Amino acid sequence: METVTVGLAERSYQISIGQGIMGTLGHACRELHLGSRVVVVTNPTVGGLYFEVVRRSLADAGFNVQLIEIPDGEEYKSLETLKGIYDLLIAGRLDRGSFLVALGGGVVGDIAGFAAATYLRGIPFVQVPTTLLAQVDSSVGGKTGINHPLGKNLIGAFYQPRLVMIDLDTLDTLPEREFLSGLAEVVKYGIVLNKDFFNFLAAHADEIRTREKHCLAKVVKSCCSIKADVVARDERETELRAVLNYGHTIGHAVETLTDYKQFSHGEAVAIGMVQAAKISEVMGYAGSTDTERIMALLETLHLPVELPQFSLEAYLDALARDKKVKEGGLSFVFNKRIGDFTIGKVKDIAALLATCGIRG
Ligand code: NAD
Ligand code: GLY
Repeated sequence: METVTVGLAERSYQISIGQGIMGTLGHACRELHLGSRVVVVTNPTVGGLYFEVVRRSLADAGFNVQLIEIPDGEEYKSLETLKGIYDLLIAGRLDRGSFLVALGGGVVGDIAGFAAATYLRGIPFVQVPTTLLAQVDSSVGGKTGINHPLGKNLIGAFYQPRLVMIDLDTLDTLPEREFLSGLAEVVKYGIVLNKDFFNFLAAHADEIRTREKHCLAKVVKSCCSIKADVVARDERETELRAVLNYGHTIGHAVETLTDYKQFSHGEAVAIGMVQAAKISEVMGYAGSTDTERIMALLETLHLPVELPQFSLEAYLDALARDKKVKEGGLSFVFNKRIGDFTIGKVKDIAALLATCGIRG
């Protein structure tokens, strides 16, 4: 088992990464001196595959285990589902000596984390992420929350878990499209934060795509280390943490314009990263070889790179609704070559889109 530390003083925690380690969860929770009662939040898909291992491990370590299942799907990351979780916690008389385990992908992690952040003004929680996206991104760093009908992730809290336990074997059952979607976030870390890691991804792209475990162990550990460093330096996204939005600005516009139906989040981010790379090149931050390498890696990982064609007005409208539009323009993350970044304010969004081939 490998470990990465998220260094946040008294709120520091370990990320444990390994194959077949889910059965050690109970022991790990004991070591943290968590209370005697635990509620595992999951969905039927993930629960059907992994709840029994988790339940047994926690019960063998002496915990009283309860289960809360929420429906599977992004549309259930809602206030209504959250209320259902609170109802069951209250009915079950869970007190401050209890804790939650989030067993699942980013949807379960975000909503269970927010329930933990707010129930009785906060009880401890543990992340057991089971999608690649959750293992390399959402389970680390303490962003928790739910969606609102008017926008994604509009309600939430920064609330760090006490432990993240990543069992790489859970990736064996992950559908192909979900796995590839997670790879887009993996590539993001390389493009803007670590050239050596990008080179590793480029050199091992086929083994990674086919889920060769040795490579995946290195990928997940590297991503967790990179993200842990960013979070330790800027937990509340005052500046540096915004680098993790690389590719997401145009990616979100693509998701909005295609009504969240045509592309998964990771696919939209892949498209957004290619556009960000082209824009960075035109701005003089990177060369054409950098853009070509980024596109080639994403294509080898079977991710889309072509921007869907909508009118300039449609893109401008979608971008105007972005959370990152503040006074002074759109906050945009550029790659500097490969492995570094800069963040700037874009005032002329039409010019930015022209670089991507979208013109009036
Ligand atoms: P998800 O949680 O919906 O999981 C995707 C699908 O895979 C679901 O159907 C799930 O049941 C299934 N699944 C999960 N693990 C499985 C496994 N091991 N085997 C088989 N099936 C499995 O989606 P996601 O991509 O993990 O997460 C997306 C969510 O994460 C979004 O709500 C997004 O806003 C959030 N997110 C949060 C952060 C953060 O920092 N908190 C960062 C990025 C994304
Ligand atoms: N996924 C972006 C962040 O955690 O900041």
